[in-house]
Amino acid sequence: MKNIGLFGFGCVGEGFYRLLQLSHYSDARIHRIVVKNPLKNRSVSSELITYNKEEILSDDKIDLIVEAIDDDVEAFEIVSSALKRGIPVVSANKKMVALHLDELIRLQRRYKTPLLYEAAVCGAIPVVQTVDDQFEFEPINSIRGIFNGTTNYILSRIQDERLDYEQALKQAQILGFAETDPISDVGGFDSAYKAIILSRHAFGLSFLPSEVFTYGIQMLTSDDFEFAQKQNLRVRLVPSVFAIENRVVAFVMPQFVSEKDPLFRIENENNAVVIDGTYSGIQTYTGRGAGSYPTAFSVFSDVRKILEGKRYHYPITEATYLQEKPENVILDVYLRYTETMVKRAIKFEFVREGFVDENYRYVTGSISLQELIDNRELLIETNSSVILLSDKPLLRKQVKRTLKQDAVLSVF
Ligand SMILES: NC(=O)c1ccc[n+]([C@@H]2O[C@H](COP(=O)([O-])OP(=O)(O)OC[C@H]3O[C@@H](n4cnc5c(N)ncnc54)[C@H](OP(=O)(O)O)[C@@H]3O)[C@@H](O)[C@H]2O)c1
Repeated sequence: MKNIGLFGFGCVGEGFYRLLQLSHYSDARIHRIVVKNPLKNRSVSSELITYNKEEILSDDKIDLIVEAIDDDVEAFEIVSSALKRGIPVVSANKKMVALHLDELIRLQRRYKTPLLYEAAVCGAIPVVQTVDDQFEFEPINSIRGIFNGTTNYILSRIQDERLDYEQALKQAQILGFAETDPISDVGGFDSAYKAIILSRHAFGLSFLPSEVFTYGIQMLTSDDFEFAQKQNLRVRLVPSVFAIENRVVAFVMPQFVSEKDPLFRIENENNAVVIDGTYSGIQTYTGRGAGSYPTAFSVFSDVRKILEGKRYHYPITEATYLQEKPENVILDVYLRYTETMVKRAIKFEFVREGFVDENYRYVTGSISLQELIDNRELLIETNSSVILLSDKPLLRKQVKRTLKQDAVLSVF
């Protein structure tokens, strides 16, 4: 019987503790639990609880650590100390893993000690392992999806019940899907962390959060949803990582998706990951992306795998792909703006359609990712919506070719 040191006894930590009991798994048990707040009542024996991390990290009886705390700085301290001491770790902390993945890989290699973090990306969907195991010899063209249940729940409520954004957010908060400060979810940052992790496994590239253009759902209005409804489209918050000619680009943006898109039917707090493999084609993985038991189940599976000797391969070497420059990436977007100065400030490569009335103005067309990056603050300050119209970015040189062929002219 192996001894687990558990950090955190909240939604994920307590869920894992309960699931371990329910499963009657006999190869491991919880030996000690480290939490932060001594004033909280706990539903477990006080003998298990401690507030001092060294009572796990320095205990020779501990065979494995499960890290499920909500503080990424402290989590990195715990996880890196454990790896340096040769103690294998399972973590659920996407922010910590995304911010420190290169260093965590280095520590795993140097100390020959594994770290698994399936729960950090889309809860119960085993996508990190899938990308790590299945695609070593098959180039991935893209990974995109719905990586955040809170935003998908909010978008589903707005579209199905015609709630406005604030009402839908409140409902999500009452049901415990959204935090009091929801910006990490609705602003797209949580999705970006998960995209960064998958990008490292799929392409060998570790993006910094600042290198992933992130635009959230908090600016969307009823006009945007009506635009979608008229064309039988739905709005999703979509993190995307694309490889185009051995160059990779990553961004998180709302997107209009059609019935043909696997993301169209992913509702409420569910998640989906769509992997486009060069030989295998499109594969879609769906499931519960968060919540106590779905996430705890992922942690539990990782614990079992570590005890069976499993570790990630990180199959793609850093030299295989490079980051694409944002000025070379062209996106097909819908931009709803309120102030004329926004239209003047934002330079489209070409415009397909423009609409102006007193309260609703939009423009659709092709724009470079760099232009969106440069104007992100202005767009947010002026409450403008930016929504992708196509799920595929193009390179500037490809757009020029298309323009030549179709002779499309700017009309705006
Ligand atoms: N909730 C989900 O559905 C979900 C899904 C996927 C991944 N995750 C990730 O899992 C992690 C945990 O999330 P959660 O939802 O379980 O959070 P939570 O419910 O807020 O619980 C956090 C736990 O961490 C403990 N903690 C915080 N700082 C600590 C420290 N310095 N030392 C020891 N313990 C500390 C807290 O202690 P006290 O009890 O004393 O306050 C609490 O028990 C986060 O990284 C989150 O991003 C969560």
